[in-house]
Amino acid sequence: MPLISPSILAADFANLQRDVEMLNRSEADYMHVDIMDGMFVPNISFGMPVCQAVNRHAQKPLDVHLMIVDPDRYLKDFRQAGAEIITVHYEACPHLHRTVQHIRELGAQPGVALNPHTPVELLTDILTDISLVLIMSVNPGFGGQTFIENTYRKVRKLAEMRRESGADFLIEIDGGVNSENAPPLLKAGADMLVAGSFVFKSPDPLQTISILKNTE
Ligand code: DX5
Ligand code: ZN
Repeated sequence: MPLISPSILAADFANLQRDVEMLNRSEADYMHVDIMDGMFVPNISFGMPVCQAVNRHAQKPLDVHLMIVDPDRYLKDFRQAGAEIITVHYEACPHLHRTVQHIRELGAQPGVALNPHTPVELLTDILTDISLVLIMSVNPGFGGQTFIENTYRKVRKLAEMRRESGADFLIEIDGGVNSENAPPLLKAGADMLVAGSFVFKSPDPLQTISILKNTE
């Protein structure tokens, strides 16, 4: 069974507590929290206060995805705001190894995200140091975009690198995930699925999460 991490970017921000409580009752494993700074990506989402507010009501661990430049400046703040997983972008970290060590020292699980154009091979020398690789299956910045098909090839390659290296990390897919691409993603080697619009824009989000969770 995949791990499911619904993205609260697609929640109703005016009813955030209601939506977080819905996720508490659901079969979701994590809550995916998208932080966008208007610099690394062309959109601004929300910051620490909202992350803290979600954490006050969340009964599932927070999976925080930092789409920001110079994430080192804010790692401690997001850890204090409740992040269990902290994922930084490969493209935003010139000293990725140091950043990953810093996340571990704070007691969180380090993840590294790759934009659609970034080859998975670039992670070869950090695979044994990280808990998770997030493969972006859309260009980061917005919910509701169309899944990029080349993602399957990247997942297969990364899963092969994992077998060969003996490293132990989760493969998370983020962007345009739905019940159609979930089965082939799992078959390719994915462990964890993020879903924003597919969950929150559906008539019955609890059932939609259950469908994703029970993907075979
Ligand atoms: C995109 C974010 C995603 C987004 C996914 O930049 O990283 O987590 O919320 O939303 P959907 O599932 O609607 O593509
Ligand atoms: Zn995300």
